Amino acid sequence: MPDNKTFSGAAGERMYDTKGKLIQAHGGQIQKFTVNGTKRWYWIGEDKTDGYRPCGGIHMYSSSDLFQLKDEGVILRTMDTIEDFMLPYFKQTYGDLDRIEQERLFVDLDRQNCVIERPKIIYNKKTGKYVIWFHADGRCSGSEGDYGKAKAGVAIADSPTGNFRFLGSYKLNYHNDPTADYGFDGWENRGSVRDMNLFLDKDDTAYIIYSSEGNRTTYISKLNDAYTALAAERDTAREGIDFTRNFIGAYKEAHAMFHYKNKYYLIQSGCTGWSPNPASYAVADCPMGPWKEMGDPCPDVGKETTYDSQSACVIPVEEENGIYVYMGDRWNEQDLADSRYVWLPIQFLPDSRIALPRMENWTFN
Ligand code: DGJ
Repeated sequence: MPDNKTFSGAAGERMYDTKGKLIQAHGGQIQKFTVNGTKRWYWIGEDKTDGYRPCGGIHMYSSSDLFQLKDEGVILRTMDTIEDFMLPYFKQTYGDLDRIEQERLFVDLDRQNCVIERPKIIYNKKTGKYVIWFHADGRCSGSEGDYGKAKAGVAIADSPTGNFRFLGSYKLNYHNDPTADYGFDGWENRGSVRDMNLFLDKDDTAYIIYSSEGNRTTYISKLNDAYTALAAERDTAREGIDFTRNFIGAYKEAHAMFHYKNKYYLIQSGCTGWSPNPASYAVADCPMGPWKEMGDPCPDVGKETTYDSQSACVIPVEEENGIYVYMGDRWNEQDLADSRYVWLPIQFLPDSRIALPRMENWTFN
């Protein structure tokens, strides 16, 4: 932040932790957790210290006020070689795994080949576990591209600051019609997951929101009680009950869902790689829709690029007072480590409309 009272909005200033190091938490999410009786903000995101690769894993910061950001370190670590499972950190986190298990997990943790994007975290009251989901992608045998694997990765820990143990990566729900248009994925790659987010509802039901069918369509799927898998088996899941397909053929990503006064809101971007495009938003009565498209939330100069940002999440700062903050990424494709964050207040307007006013640097009144 520019100082300890002002948020960086469209100015996209560099943000530093309390030790003066650049924040590495891209494509992230901020929310409050109560840990050992203390409420704090936790910011999870992609560590891009080394740019796109080697992949830095998932970084966490914590804060009492959203300004002072304490580095909690890399909470989901990647590996140089499969032999890293023998190092103390990984032994402590994973125990003794047989070679088959190591190979299964290494595909998604191999820092020279994996892609870990848009990590999100939710707390499960029943199991007492913190659960991370992320877009697990990258090169693997049979798929040389960075985004051909297209899975969702899951990791769990007893504390939001880790160590997180990676459980595996999975394809998710699919539309059971082999003749349908699956975009560039095709039927072979059905259930693909790229940009994704999580949403935890008031009734403790959790949802994963993800771009699928070659990014054509936004899926919203219910998670199981432990939040570690889909609620219903992938091959028998019922469309409309266990999952929904939304904005079919509209190519949306960067999903950011939130709840305010009996309505659910979903802000998204279009699909133009690292380059920004106009945002759109939709409103619904339930997390799985049906969604009513409301258009572009940005009213001001620069709206054609969402003020040079792409949505990552919406921070429910004070739900009861309607204080919500949009958090976007200003990707710098030439130097991903120096990608910036754009925070903007959300304005709630009549008829369930919202606006993201352009503000350079700003504070709450
Ligand atoms: C847009 C996505 O929103 C980002 O998370 C990242 O996957 C880039 N595409 C890669 O081009």
